[in-house]
Amino acid sequence: MLKISVMVSGSGSNLQAIINAVESGQIADARIVQVISSSPKAFALERARNHGIKPVTIGKENFPDEGKRAKAILKALQEEQTDLVVLAGYMNILKPEIVEAYKGRIINIHPSLIPEFCGEGFYGMRVHEAVIQAGAKKSGATVHFVDEGVDTGGIILQEEVTVRPGDSPEMLAMRVLNVEHEILPKAINKWREKGEM
Ligand code: GRF
Repeated sequence: MLKISVMVSGSGSNLQAIINAVESGQIADARIVQVISSSPKAFALERARNHGIKPVTIGKENFPDEGKRAKAILKALQEEQTDLVVLAGYMNILKPEIVEAYKGRIINIHPSLIPEFCGEGFYGMRVHEAVIQAGAKKSGATVHFVDEGVDTGGIILQEEVTVRPGDSPEMLAMRVLNVEHEILPKAINKWREKGEM
């Protein structure tokens, strides 16, 4: 049984894609053991509750000290005997001790074709704004390993999205998000087939 901890900060539509894939058997023999949110207000926590998944909040509000926050995250991951950590719209950078403890077992979804439009400052709508501003003809989504850098880990799965003339960042974001929902469960299966890759 694959034990997945999902980390979120916002709406959690990618979390929902994983929940659906586990419930439908697309991701077989797996369980989401908890959803860890950096914010108590994240709608993702509601999605977790709706599916009987343990909701956990570990953020600046209840753990203002960075070191203690990292320790709390590590403890939560270990207590649930996590095999795989999925960052699904988690808007924070994990501390090196967490990355080190789960090397090869933390993956992230990013709304661009890495190595384009990623790294420091490229998050949320900013990514899509930058893509459109640069006049890029294509964008996409990438699932990659998390290492010590920002969006620098090895790529697991990537899919292109055409940038259409007249696209607003919001329109592009919507189409990229649909692709994210498709590739995230596939990437989890791919990761699993190949072990730690
Ligand atoms: C997604 O675009 C993801 O790639 C990015 O943050 C967004 C999260 O959306 N890291 P959601 O919370 O999964 O709906």
